[in-house]
Amino acid sequence: MGRKVNWGIIAAGGIARRRTLPAMKDVPNAVITGIMDKNQNVLDEISEEYKITDTYTEEQELLNNPQIEAVYVASPVCFHKKQALEVLHAGKSLLLEKPLAMNEEDAREIVQTALKKGQTAGVAMVMKHHPAHRKMKKLIESGVIGDIVSCRAQLNCWFPDMEGNWRQKKATAGGGALVDMGSHCIDILKYLLDDHVEWVFGDIGTRTFSYEVDDSADCILHMKKGATCYIDVHFNIPDEAAKGMLEIYGTKGSLLASGTIGQDGQGEVYLNQCATEGYDSNQKRKEDGLGQKVDYERENIYGRQIEEFSKAIEEGLTVSTSFEDAFETVKIIDALYKSSKEKKAVYL
Ligand SMILES: NC(=O)c1ccc[n+]([C@@H]2O[C@H](COP(=O)([O-])OP(=O)(O)OC[C@H]3O[C@@H](n4cnc5c(N)ncnc54)[C@H](O)[C@@H]3O)[C@@H](O)[C@H]2O)c1
Repeated sequence: MGRKVNWGIIAAGGIARRRTLPAMKDVPNAVITGIMDKNQNVLDEISEEYKITDTYTEEQELLNNPQIEAVYVASPVCFHKKQALEVLHAGKSLLLEKPLAMNEEDAREIVQTALKKGQTAGVAMVMKHHPAHRKMKKLIESGVIGDIVSCRAQLNCWFPDMEGNWRQKKATAGGGALVDMGSHCIDILKYLLDDHVEWVFGDIGTRTFSYEVDDSADCILHMKKGATCYIDVHFNIPDEAAKGMLEIYGTKGSLLASGTIGQDGQGEVYLNQCATEGYDSNQKRKEDGLGQKVDYERENIYGRQIEEFSKAIEEGLTVSTSFEDAFETVKIIDALYKSSKEKKAVYL
């Protein structure tokens, strides 16, 4: 077996504990070497569960450990800039949780530092690691659904007012549903379409709850190659009501996925290939359900993310989401907020 990259973790809360750490344990080319969190109880529980003795409450203590080569940062968004810069200045590789930063200005500083330092660095846009999405990308590239004209990505959940929750405050989260879940939707559409955004229009607000960040974001992204993308992300639609739809429509058919935009690496994808010769004035439709089911091998998307990033470090490969790519997503999010505020389209 090949060498294992020694990983340090900064912030071992929700996503790290629920998804990344359990997956990392089983990744052949990675090992968890040290963990830092501000909460001593979290550290105690994790050191017991994973038998890790190198635990720290200060970032610099973890970064001073010469064994640690790569750091996964999964802290609340307001700490991303400070911690990302510290990791980069310490000369370690960096996998930073999404979104890259609170805003365009902070994101630019991280990107510029990463470019100057030159080590392997990227953002954890985990949807790109879903095997269903990779298959959809190949199908789109093969041309089976023709030229892409319209798309939709949806991610919703029920997230009521919670006293003191960092995600519900502008100063700690940067924004609400759009920042938290919209970043995934924007990223996966850019990836599937291999395209960039030309202009956006957003209708974003807090319609149901009383926190200061948005609980609703309904957005239009007009892509440079011409397709229109719809993104709907909400904190005020119950989890069971939303199926995480991902719909790609082209001139020869469609790819319709549900439940793939999520954390469990599951969901279904259907392919529809349609005859487009002539014009049917009767507008007759074939009643054959959702289409042809697209099979794919299920895998742990968080494990795949760590495995690919570790391989990129070892072999000097490019990472799946570069900081420049994630920077573009931050700019799109900022443009959407501006558009919603000014009630007009904003060009990137
Ligand atoms: N890719 C995904 O699927 C996904 C899912 C959820 C969250 N996230 C991202 O992960 C990050 C964390 O979200 P979460 O849901 O795990 O949050 P969380 O609140 O569940 O956990 C945050 C952890 O950070 C610790 N912490 C707080 N301040 C810290 C500091 N200054 N230094 C170090 N640790 C600190 C807390 O003690 C806690 O353990 C965010 O950037 C979020 O957008 C990604």
